[in-house]
Amino acid sequence: MEVVILGSVDDVDRTVADVVESVVRAGPAVLGLATGSTPVGAYTELARRHREQDLSFARCTAFLLDEYIGISTESEQSYFTFIRDNFVDLVDLDGASVFSPDGEAADIGAEARRFDSAIADAGGVDVQILGIGSDGHLGFNEPGSSLRSRTRVKTLTEQTRRDNARFFATPDDVPHHVLTQGLGTICEARHLVLIATGAAKADAVAAAVEGPLSAFCPASAIQWHPHVSVVLDESAASKLKLADYYRYAYEQKPSWQSL
Ligand code: PGA
Repeated sequence: MEVVILGSVDDVDRTVADVVESVVRAGPAVLGLATGSTPVGAYTELARRHREQDLSFARCTAFLLDEYIGISTESEQSYFTFIRDNFVDLVDLDGASVFSPDGEAADIGAEARRFDSAIADAGGVDVQILGIGSDGHLGFNEPGSSLRSRTRVKTLTEQTRRDNARFFATPDDVPHHVLTQGLGTICEARHLVLIATGAAKADAVAAAVEGPLSAFCPASAIQWHPHVSVVLDESAASKLKLADYYRYAYEQKPSWQSL
């Protein structure tokens, strides 16, 4: 696990874009896209590189982490719409190659299994972008999630519903249930890139990176993974006990070694 602490949110966005760009330029890539506000800057930077530096996503496939139950894919509040508006429509990624769990499927259990199989059939995710919830969730794996869980239904915590109320007309409109990739599913991606910015994420980041591996902080599941980059601004890193060591290790990183 590599913890990268950077001086500004712009630096975070550029660094995450660098990781995605190198995977995309290497060949047909399977991208794991996170929704939420945190990765939007990195998506904007990737879109700029698409426009100005010939970065093409035409051969990519993408999978989303999660979707609300009872919200149609086409609805304004769906995560599919969010990623379409904030990334897919800004680049040359074919919308037909972007997959999200169907939160309106008649048989949600079957849909969850189908989604896991679709990721496997695509060859697995090359690079998975991740945000982190203020309660430590990863995807929508709320506290108490099995560390080896597969895609399934989860009930959102009140904290998460409050955090996401800004995307809905009223807080009561935030659904209670979601279909989310499990922690086991997420951890099958070959490279996890967890992004956090702002002081509101500092406790969750500290618990995920330095706390015990525990279902109480689902994002701590990243500690199992052999290739994780945690990319933070100073505020999000402010509760890390080993922050100075992470900075030093990053400065000493051999020039030939990428994240
Ligand atoms: P945010 O959400 O990026 O909007 O803070 C992150 C998350 O809930 O995983």
